[in-house]
Amino acid sequence: MKKTLSCLLALSLALGPTMVTPQTAKATKVVLPQDVYKQPVTGLTPKQLKQFKEGEKVFNNFWMAVNNPIIPLTWDLSLPGPAGAEWGLGPMFMATNCAACHVNAGRGRAIDASGSLAVQHVLRLSVPGQDAHGGPNPHPNYGTEIQMFDIVTRKDKSARAGEAEVFIDWVTQKFSFADGETLELRQPKVRVENLNFGALGEGTMLSLRNSQAMMGVGLLEAVSDKDILKLAEMQKTKGLNGRPNYVRDDIRQQTSIGRFGWKANQPSVRQQIAAAFSSDMGINSALYPETHCTAVQKECIEAIRHDKPELRPELWAAITTWAMSLDAPVQRDKDKPEVKRGEQLFVDSGCAACHVPELKTSQFDALPQLANRKIRPYTDLLLHDMGPELADGRPDYKAGAADWRTAPLWGIGVSKQVSASTSFLHDGRARNLQEAIVWHGGEAKPARDKFTTMPKAQRSDLLAFLESL
Ligand code: HEC
Ligand code: HEC
Repeated sequence: MKKTLSCLLALSLALGPTMVTPQTAKATKVVLPQDVYKQPVTGLTPKQLKQFKEGEKVFNNFWMAVNNPIIPLTWDLSLPGPAGAEWGLGPMFMATNCAACHVNAGRGRAIDASGSLAVQHVLRLSVPGQDAHGGPNPHPNYGTEIQMFDIVTRKDKSARAGEAEVFIDWVTQKFSFADGETLELRQPKVRVENLNFGALGEGTMLSLRNSQAMMGVGLLEAVSDKDILKLAEMQKTKGLNGRPNYVRDDIRQQTSIGRFGWKANQPSVRQQIAAAFSSDMGINSALYPETHCTAVQKECIEAIRHDKPELRPELWAAITTWAMSLDAPVQRDKDKPEVKRGEQLFVDSGCAACHVPELKTSQFDALPQLANRKIRPYTDLLLHDMGPELADGRPDYKAGAADWRTAPLWGIGVSKQVSASTSFLHDGRARNLQEAIVWHGGEAKPARDKFTTMPKAQRSDLLAFLESL
């Protein structure tokens, strides 16, 4: 134990201990570089802090299938599995824990080699039409997300598990800035192979999405609907067309403003978490008691399950408190001249019209510590038409084929130290901040063109500003 601690300390010293100031704090803390997104908001009570720690465990913990061959038949299933694992994985799943995709609560990484399996992504799919609540219409054989793995024990050992395999091939193109400097851009081409339940069929719509960073989600939930609508109104005067998504709220049994996910298709952190357990890990909950096996997936329907709900209420509560309480880091190096110049360019180029620097949270009974605070997330939580190059062609409630929610930019400069990822944009195609900006189109085209026509020195200043966030 002592040795591990001193190793960690040595590592953090080697990388330089990171100073972090959370949005809700005045004081700076020294933390391990990879822990910057995992800091709690200030003012949690001892009871909440205890729940925060329990929630982090739920996030990191592994989930297991009760029919896993390594489990002796004599194992008492009312107790946790080996190494404290929870029961209930599958039948279909993408990963065995949340942290596999959201490493240290950070973003996923797109693997650079063409032909790699998309392991920290999800591939959403649907067919034309809408479900009963105006959401995407599930594919009859594959549902709304491809799960690459399953827990089914097969007689034929050579049969592939899961629904299918998702590979990413990169297609590159060259881009030239106005001053002649060139840049290579890459775009993913999704390949779905080894389909176990028949061809996808014509008209199937696919949307590849990289895992998002999770910090600050509670603070964003605490921004009032009214303030989001006000932002949308204000943007009309600037020639922009930011709109909220309106999505199915299964907890409140109504339609609510969408806030989370790349197309803002989830209304609350609590629902987003239950949905992730269900679709990414096959773990049922009080909210989603049924496992998503489609009618043709007989083995999935017949697979042994653990008791319902597999996501026990106390675990759901703890991980929700944890995620809601994750603070986001404030800007560093604020007074460096290049950062200051970059900030001015960010405003002058029109970036700040969508990536709104400052928002205010409102009264928030779910976690009063988040209420009435000024935060600097650099988002408007609204959907914008980002043009044909970024379009996935798959509508998601009110989000059209080319619409995406303005990605919050807080903490983006430390993404690499958190999860070794600088894969930006919804599908992780951008390998760095500069590529992310150049891909902006549609409503963001004028701002992007300002960037691509700036002298190089100004582009570096703007990037230095983003790196400071
Ligand atoms: C297979 C990878 C994968 C796994 C496993 C996974 N996620 Fe995600 N997560 C994603 C992707 C991809 C998105 C974006 C989804 C979208 O846009 O539809 C996301 C989005 C989120 C968001 C919204 C963040 C935001 O800023 O809007 C939260 C919160 C979240 N996941 C929590 C969880 C939790 C909790 C678990 C464990 C139960 C989990 N995720 C498991 C890939 C994953
Ligand atoms: C019209 C609104 C709009 C404007 C203007 C705009 N953006 Fe964005 N920005 C977005 C949206 C929407 C996304 C997410 C797009 C996606 O994932 O495909 C995004 C994504 C990003 C990302 C990647 C974030 C991540 O987590 O992956 C960066 C960096 C960024 N913008 C910087 C800028 C800069 C710098 C400017 C000004 C030159 C700018 N943006 C102008 C809407 C806008």
